[in-house]
Amino acid sequence: MQKVLVTGGTGYIGSHTVIELLNSGYEVDIIDNLSNSKAETIAAIEAITKKRPTFHNIDLLNRESLTELFDNNHYDFVLHFAGLKAVGESVEKPLLYYRTNLDSAINLVEAMLAHGINNIVFSSSATVYGRQYSPEYVETMQVGSGIANPYGRTKYMIEEILKDTCAANPDFSATILRYFNPIGNHPSGLIGENPNGIPNNIMPVIMRVATGQIKELNVYGNDYDTPDGTCRRDYIHVVDLAKGHLAAMQHIKPGVSVYNLGTGKPTSVLELLAAFESASGHELPHVFAPRRSGDVAEMWANPSLANQELNWHTNLTIADAMRDTLKFLESQR
Ligand code: UD1
Repeated sequence: MQKVLVTGGTGYIGSHTVIELLNSGYEVDIIDNLSNSKAETIAAIEAITKKRPTFHNIDLLNRESLTELFDNNHYDFVLHFAGLKAVGESVEKPLLYYRTNLDSAINLVEAMLAHGINNIVFSSSATVYGRQYSPEYVETMQVGSGIANPYGRTKYMIEEILKDTCAANPDFSATILRYFNPIGNHPSGLIGENPNGIPNNIMPVIMRVATGQIKELNVYGNDYDTPDGTCRRDYIHVVDLAKGHLAAMQHIKPGVSVYNLGTGKPTSVLELLAAFESASGHELPHVFAPRRSGDVAEMWANPSLANQELNWHTNLTIADAMRDTLKFLESQR
């Protein structure tokens, strides 16, 4: 049985990927420092899959613990999700973000090289494309300039670290996955996205408006040059995204590979809101607010490369994501 190490495996996208790995017959070790996730997620994963991943409470900044883990375990693949990801916080505490995200990646790759483990899949973000106006983004486009915040820059820098590592180590394989906008959760409703602190992304905000924790949704801008005046994004169901990791892992090849993971279809803020209202049967309080600085009007993936090379396609819809989100909200009551 092949064994996979998942860093950040109790987090939102990591935990959904662990479920897909276990369901596909892989043995899974998770490392996470639980800074933005809960240990109970392990029990939820077990309830869903009837299999239990091995959990190690390890901080990737702790090189000794990491070395000890690799001394005692062999991994066929490493999936690297762990990292700080709050955009606003990264602007306030840039050094925390650079230290945490970059040192974590370097420590992990160093430990892999020292132990002859050559396959890594990295969670990157469409944010690396910066503010260039496309609106459809292809992997061959320029990355790294005009990125709006330190969080986004750490994603770009880790991509570069992986590229340089592959150039220096011909046996090393790095697959970089650029996520568009993940939403939804496992259909069981047992796991989902529940960030600590004030949310920044739209779905966690919608969820808190629905539960009354936030009064209303601010729709940031209705004067964009788009069909309904609000921004359009490529919202991808997290279960489809998780399956993209499996496909990427199974098609890994020496050197660097980069894939967009998105649906290729844009949805506006108002369309997303309408989908939530239709699933819940209730209106969601919202107001139009000024544009949010740093937002581009439209951004969606060209997912052709992942479709062709990884034989991966999205199957789930925005309506599925809304239904699953409501189920998760019910389970939180
Ligand atoms: C954001 C980050 C990006 C990060 C990604 C995933 C910014 C500028 N970009 O992308 O770096 O990789 O999340 O974590 O922060 N919206 C509202 N009201 C809200 C919240 C959002 O109208 O309360 C709108 C936004 O204007 C945007 C859309 O919803 O048009 C999606 O926003 P969000 O979920 O924050 O994702 P991105 O901005 O695409």
